[in-house]
Amino acid sequence: MSTVVAETARLILRPFQPADREAYLAIVGHPAMGRFDEEFPRPPEVAKADFRHALELAPFTRDEWNELAIALRPAGPVAGLISYRPHRAASGELAVTLGFHVHPDHQGQGLASEAMLGFKEALRARGVRRLCAVVDRANVPSIRILTRLGLACAGPSDTGVPDELAYECLLGPPGHP
Ligand SMILES: CC(C)(COP(=O)(O)OP(=O)(O)OC[C@H]1O[C@@H](n2cnc3c(N)ncnc32)[C@H](O)[C@@H]1OP(=O)(O)O)[C@@H](O)C(=O)NCCC(=O)NCCS
Repeated sequence: MSTVVAETARLILRPFQPADREAYLAIVGHPAMGRFDEEFPRPPEVAKADFRHALELAPFTRDEWNELAIALRPAGPVAGLISYRPHRAASGELAVTLGFHVHPDHQGQGLASEAMLGFKEALRARGVRRLCAVVDRANVPSIRILTRLGLACAGPSDTGVPDELAYECLLGPPGHP
């Protein structure tokens, strides 16, 4: 059994397991995932390679995109995934850049919000002090989630994509906002 990263009322956030392969491919290969991100939907061969990488990567590997399953409790299907890249911010503190995807069959139930709030507390407990994200300015659901997490717009992103905005926040130690 892989190590659980966080639990919420409805969800378990945990590393991917081999049995999650079909659910993973269904999420990252779904056409709706590409609405605001040209890296999605991932072609099948890319998605399969990414899944192998997700299984092999040690949790919380710095400077790499790590992935976590958003699984429905108690042992239900994988509804989505969290992507996260731990790195050292220019200002020195431990930072994590966030991404999240929920399969359309499970959207609109607050699952992404719930998952990301749980993940935020797990990151805080690990010593992460800055959260970052890049989001398309028209991606209203995603911006609502980031805002709920406490991130605020810091201006245009440095990705070079005209409509992408950088969001970020500082994270206090456990027990702080
Ligand atoms: C963004 C995404 C993860 C949201 O998943 P979800 O589980 O449906 O999210 P939630 O149910 O927690 O809803 C988040 C907020 O978006 C709002 N929302 C959902 N669909 C919406 C829509 N079509 N238009 C406007 N707001 C919408 C919800 O009302 C909620 O806001 P509120 O709680 O303040 O009312 C999902 O839409 C998705 O996977 N999108 C494609 C990938 C993506 O864009 N990822 C983010 C960038 S990395």
